[in-house]
Amino acid sequence: MRFDVITLFPEFFNTFVNTGVTGKALRNGLVNLSLWNPRNYTKDLHRTVDDRPYGGGPGMLMLVAPLQATLQAVKSQAPNSPIAYLSPQGQVFTQKIAQNLAQRSGTIFIAGRYEGVDERLLERYVDEEWSIGDYVLTGGEIPALAIMDAVIRLLPGVLGHVASAIEDSYTDGLLDCPHYTRPEEIEGMQVPKVLLSGNHAAINEWRLQQALGRTWLRRPNLLKQRGLSPKEQRLLEGFISSWTLDK
Ligand SMILES: C[S@@+](CC[C@H](N)C(=O)[O-])C[C@H]1O[C@@H](n2cnc3c(N)ncnc32)[C@H](O)[C@@H]1O
Repeated sequence: MRFDVITLFPEFFNTFVNTGVTGKALRNGLVNLSLWNPRNYTKDLHRTVDDRPYGGGPGMLMLVAPLQATLQAVKSQAPNSPIAYLSPQGQVFTQKIAQNLAQRSGTIFIAGRYEGVDERLLERYVDEEWSIGDYVLTGGEIPALAIMDAVIRLLPGVLGHVASAIEDSYTDGLLDCPHYTRPEEIEGMQVPKVLLSGNHAAINEWRLQQALGRTWLRRPNLLKQRGLSPKEQRLLEGFISSWTLDK
């Protein structure tokens, strides 16, 4: 898997490249990340990458020419990678999209800055637009990092336990169940008994029931989209009755 990121601030990516799971995946060669600075593809003395918008208004826009030259250089090395523009106007990125991107050999990201990018570059070159949520950041670097992180941890060999990613929230349309570690008791709060029972069938059933219950409480829309098997329906009803009793 290769990622190419077009960015005016390549230094943003230093921690990502050197730290934790993503750093290890890069060091082990499971992922390749190339950073491309449009300033290196300018032709003027001042290495200009932005200009004022036609029609007036605040802020600057990224110029077409440096981005176009950068894209040409990237495409010569990653001819099969789709080009994705990070934008608050794009499709909101989800776990499902992360799973799809993890199947590809690569993606090229354009991280915008200022008020964004001249629309003609987007029309001509961009295959897809991704947003990381309905809010506006100063640049596309954090969205690129978020998306790459979500994708990299799905790649085979990246996480220590293959099950980790499978059991995470959203993977099967539910939120994850609650988790506990040592000690068994903290300030009167006990670890649920079933988790200490050693009965793996009962533990799995409890976890599924908690995942269903949490999703029902916090994100009921996810349950509507997903639908439930008869067993899941029964477990959720059990969760709802004990939750109602506790209230
Ligand atoms: C200040 S924003 C420009 C916002 C643009 N004028 C608008 O309102 O749609 C600068 C850059 O940050 C990135 N960006 C900001 N918020 C984002 C989000 N929620 N998701 C993805 N990219 C974002 C984009 O690359 C954008 O070009």
